[in-house]
Amino acid sequence: MTAPSAPPPAASVSMAVRIGSLELRNPILTASGTYGLGYEFARLADLSKIGGVVGKTVTMTPRIGNPPPRTFETAGGMLNSIGLMNPGWDGFVRDTLPRIRELPCPFILNVAGKSEDEFVELTRRAGELVGIAALELNLSCPNVAGGLDFSAKPELTERIVARCRAVYPLPIFAKLSPNVGDIVAIAQAAERGGADALSCVNTYLGTAIDWRRAKTIFPRGIAGLSGPAIKPMALLATMRVAAAVKIPVVGIGGIAKADDVLEYLVAGATAVQIGTACFWDPGHPVRLAADVETAVRTAGICDVQTLIGTVQPSPAPAANPAPAPGSCNVGGTNPR
Ligand code: SIN
Repeated sequence: MTAPSAPPPAASVSMAVRIGSLELRNPILTASGTYGLGYEFARLADLSKIGGVVGKTVTMTPRIGNPPPRTFETAGGMLNSIGLMNPGWDGFVRDTLPRIRELPCPFILNVAGKSEDEFVELTRRAGELVGIAALELNLSCPNVAGGLDFSAKPELTERIVARCRAVYPLPIFAKLSPNVGDIVAIAQAAERGGADALSCVNTYLGTAIDWRRAKTIFPRGIAGLSGPAIKPMALLATMRVAAAVKIPVVGIGGIAKADDVLEYLVAGATAVQIGTACFWDPGHPVRLAADVETAVRTAGICDVQTLIGTVQPSPAPAANPAPAPGSCNVGGTNPR
């Protein structure tokens, strides 16, 4: 029997994906907090080659962030405890918005409020700005007091998203926490509230300890884990959420290679965000976009969107034949 031959490479490939009214030239976005506000990297990477930039969270008032250290490398990942350092709304609008308008890709503004009302007010203000393509509500920061509360209870998530929806005309992404009992229930609540997309997921709670001093590395004790170490868990969360909602899901967590991106798309993500890998190399998202296109073309796929949500459970292996009488085969196909 001859092996099935590989499909011929596609002559042309469409990499564009859509999130609500937002058209992205490809599914690669940078994750909030890992790529500044984008313009800082515009001389290091050709940002016209990626789908877009999600900016570092902007809050109502300036925040100096948590005391150092704020990052810590772990096996296969990184812990951060930044604490939403940012110049606040007025500083953002005055100093950085004009530079964001020059970006050659869509800019998605990420905001976090200290309260429900603050989320709504930030969203209302965002609706008045020119140069913002969409909004991401950071409902899930683990590094500030109360930051996780907004994506911990379905009723609250739904209400915040609904109130923000009512004052903002462009797409809204709700960024979810994995540190909850049932992320699917929170995702469905955000969908009911009117979110256009779900960013899935923020960092996993973690810590690091210096045993010689018997002290946590981070003064706050708790930090957020990202990077390849979280990929299997974040991929599962993405797959479960995507199966339970109708709106697009944006996968986040440990994405570094083209295969990672394509696994997330097959799991149901419409786009992905690249986070920790941006710290290794600010050019990484651009190279990844090219690598994903090459992989899609090589697989003979003409439109990347046809991959989204196609995952199926692997068929169970055929039942093992009964062991021959007297044989030592105790199960499986590996005689011991
Ligand atoms: C931070 O600024 O502490 C990280 C932001 C986040 O995890 O949402």
